[in-house]
Amino acid sequence: MVFSPYFCELFEIKMSVEITQDQWVERFDQLAEKDYVMIDGFLDEATVRSLREQIIAEEEEDRLKTAGIGANDGFQVVRAIRNDKIRWLKRDEENPSAGLFFEKMEEVKALLNRFCFLSLSDFEFHFAHYPQGSFYKRHLDQFKENDNRLITAILYLNDGWHEEDGGLLRIYAEEGPKDIYPLGGRLLLFRSDKLEHEVLPTERDRYSITGWLLHKPAGLGFL
Ligand code: OGA
Ligand code: MN
Repeated sequence: MVFSPYFCELFEIKMSVEITQDQWVERFDQLAEKDYVMIDGFLDEATVRSLREQIIAEEEEDRLKTAGIGANDGFQVVRAIRNDKIRWLKRDEENPSAGLFFEKMEEVKALLNRFCFLSLSDFEFHFAHYPQGSFYKRHLDQFKENDNRLITAILYLNDGWHEEDGGLLRIYAEEGPKDIYPLGGRLLLFRSDKLEHEVLPTERDRYSITGWLLHKPAGLGFL
């Protein structure tokens, strides 16, 4: 079913923006030039709300676990570096909104391969909840011992965000540091091997789906 803009306005349905191929190419140019790009309205408001409600419910059921740092044997929980809570998503999540998110990320992956000459073969994503007071100190996402993560993708799930809420993402771009608001529906893509970043201490619950576009399939023994 196709909703007319009038219908959407009437019922306050915010549709996700359809991004044309030319617009994608423009965004990828920015990714190549500045190492990051932001895409607002990547998913519509209802989908974002449904994902946010799911992560809140899962937190209540104690399904999220304190995140760690390092890959494989180097993995450890260090609360002085990061103290967000996560759950890895499966490809066959029950929530159709997760399915929609995966579908759209498949498209992004294909477009990146086509226009940026990357050879991405997979992705991995987790829910992330930063409770009040939590943060993630300055870091790079690509592991030293494993270069599988090429592009970081973060979809924010928050209902509005203000300066006094803290919790901004600070990226250390070549042009200088820049703070990004974790606004619902906003997708951020950046180079996992190049762009250092940190999550400033948050004053309120902060929700996202965070993950990586991978060179090699996830979960293979040799990674
Ligand atoms: C991460 C991370 C940033 C954010 O999970 O590696 O840096 O804005 N997240 O949530
Ligand atoms: Mn990171």
